[in-house]
Amino acid sequence: MSEKTSGIHSLLRFPWIYETFQSLMGAEQNIKRFVANELRPTPGMRILDIGCGTGRLANHLGDVTYIGFEPNESYVAQGMREQAHRDVTLHAGYFDEKSADSVEPVDLAIVLAVLHHMSDEQAAELFRLLARVVKPGGRVVTLDNVYVDGQGMFERWIIGMDRGQNVRTPEAYDALPTASFGVVEGHTAKNPRLPYTYWIMSCSQPKTA
Ligand SMILES: C[S@@+](CC[C@H](N)C(=O)[O-])C[C@H]1O[C@@H](n2cnc3c(N)ncnc32)[C@H](O)[C@@H]1O
Repeated sequence: MSEKTSGIHSLLRFPWIYETFQSLMGAEQNIKRFVANELRPTPGMRILDIGCGTGRLANHLGDVTYIGFEPNESYVAQGMREQAHRDVTLHAGYFDEKSADSVEPVDLAIVLAVLHHMSDEQAAELFRLLARVVKPGGRVVTLDNVYVDGQGMFERWIIGMDRGQNVRTPEAYDALPTASFGVVEGHTAKNPRLPYTYWIMSCSQPKTA
């Protein structure tokens, strides 16, 4: 895993500290906008969330079947307590070949703030597996912090503080799914509260061998 895990970053492995930090970043408002503009879930959809944290995204998706994979077991334990009343399944662990074999096809796969925790090889392998589980006509939607031209020093400093050690440029993010998806569309979005820029990708037309 390409993550900083020492010093202040080590505290973020605790679910309540992570969630408080997310609130300070304006996460709830950002998630609502991201869901409305990018995910556009409809009732009955099957949705897979990779690196789902505590699965908090499920609260914003309506009447869907939500399947999350998350390597941090304490996030999963907290999420299962919070989500007990919904059609939510959280798996503790990485999404691997075995997971891809076991998951029924999904309409939408979400990779929210996770690619910048992965090496190029790990991310390309993830897209290969997602191409197998996304239904024809389905999509993978990703969001990550990004280095773009014209960013101020303060913004670059905040982005550099991230636990994930692979924050990329738009071109480098766009290259990750191209072996597995025929259409990759990316664009930037701004955090309204902080000088912080995200790269959002929508990947469709899975290429399966
Ligand atoms: C910034 S958090 C985002 C969590 C969640 N998607 C959200 O938006 O609340 C990054 C998450 O990715 C997970 N993660 C790190 N490396 C991963 C990997 N290789 N595969 C899947 N998840 C990973 C971390 O455990 C962490 O929960």
